[in-house]
Amino acid sequence: MPLKDHRAEYEARCVSPEEAASLIPTGANVSMGMALGEPPELLRAINARIEAGQLTDIRLWYFHSMQTAAETILRYEMMDHVHPHCMFMGGTERTLQKRGEQDGKRVLNFVPVAFSDAPRLLSENVELDTFITTVAPMDKHGFLSLGTNNDYASVAARSAKKLIVEVNPNMPRVFGESQIHISEIDALIENDEPLFEMTVREAKPAERQIGEIISQYVPDGACLQMGIGALPNEVCGHLKDRKNLGIHTELLSPGLVDLIECGAVNNTLKSTFRKKTVFTFAMGNQRMYRLLDDNPAMASHPVNIVNDPRHIAKNDNVVSINATLEVDLTGACNSENISHRQYSGSGGQLDFVRGARASKNGRSFIACTSTAKGGTISRVVPELSGPVTTPRNDVDTIVTEFGAVRLIGLTGIERAKAMISIAHPDHRKDLEKAARKLCLI
Ligand code: COA
Repeated sequence: MPLKDHRAEYEARCVSPEEAASLIPTGANVSMGMALGEPPELLRAINARIEAGQLTDIRLWYFHSMQTAAETILRYEMMDHVHPHCMFMGGTERTLQKRGEQDGKRVLNFVPVAFSDAPRLLSENVELDTFITTVAPMDKHGFLSLGTNNDYASVAARSAKKLIVEVNPNMPRVFGESQIHISEIDALIENDEPLFEMTVREAKPAERQIGEIISQYVPDGACLQMGIGALPNEVCGHLKDRKNLGIHTELLSPGLVDLIECGAVNNTLKSTFRKKTVFTFAMGNQRMYRLLDDNPAMASHPVNIVNDPRHIAKNDNVVSINATLEVDLTGACNSENISHRQYSGSGGQLDFVRGARASKNGRSFIACTSTAKGGTISRVVPELSGPVTTPRNDVDTIVTEFGAVRLIGLTGIERAKAMISIAHPDHRKDLEKAARKLCLI
């Protein structure tokens, strides 16, 4: 039997960016693909429509915004028309927040949520009018892959009243549960624009020490999750001689790609998604995008699946490595606020800490350099200056350049002493004093 030709369905949905943008009504809840899923040409068209006075009062739901959003609908000048509802903050959101504060306006709405719960939030708690995202070109069966970004996209795309996609030939075709059928799409535009490439900032000497310390705890056969930031990436550099590693991670980062390419990762010991590298979003460079393209060994799944501790724990020997901003003397971590201001977001940190704990022989590491701001601020603190991203009940091992302390099973006094032992020596006396005042030691 001949294959059904989906070309006609595709052509019928293909419109200009202006036409696509005109499908979004004033007052709509709109969600956009995050990171490389952000559709640049569509954003430019939406921006033009707002500037022309044809669109306003958009509530925009998203996690990780990129440069095009910063240059278009997330400009400060747009804030009378676009109301960002972000669930993670990057540089763009921090700038918007700061400028708003300077003008005495609240322009940014931060929505606290575990990354794993974002698909449910967007499909059950928010009535999405439109979801916009970038996808890879259609295959012969009529499917378009969400490529680097599955996260909340595959769920939000199906729960929004309208799905508008930007087809980009540079977006890799990725397997897993990453396919949207042409019949599910309301409108599409085409745009051949290179994908953004992420530069990982070079690790500082203290971060290199932390990388070395953590790597000693990663055995052959471990199933890895690496978090966001320079630190988790640095750990990967120390694991190239490991054997039979697996990957089940929220973020696929360049450090993990190095481990796949050097043969340290083969995924053979995994019990679930065996022989596959599993992730929910990927951000890196052309080398990564080439590796992802048409590769059955790479599987992207929605974040409610990838970050579900029950799924994570199906694999033995899970090692989860994440960064934090500050840790208190009981081991609770604030990984999202600096000086009481939202700086990033919880992401899936707690999801993986819990998943690793539930995995046989699993272990989680949360790390930070002992100080910030040229040594003036201790990141080991008596009390957190922000929300608890990982509670003391869940935390396993905390690492600074002064060592690793496993907190599970330690009493309050033992924890405080352990935490002070990995604080910077210049701050230990003050911490001891504070610990006594808080009756922790
Ligand atoms: N007080 C004041 N400033 C602080 C600080 C503190 N306690 N901690 C860090 N800073 C400053 C740093 O000095 C640095 O400043 P600079 O940019 O001027 O050098 C800046 O804040 C960022 O700190 P850094 O340690 O470089 O952060 P990072 O880019 O490595 O990211 C997190 C670290 C914690 C923000 C990031 O990992 C995160 O968002 N985590 C939460 C989400 C998560 O873990 N998800 C897991 C799955 S992906």
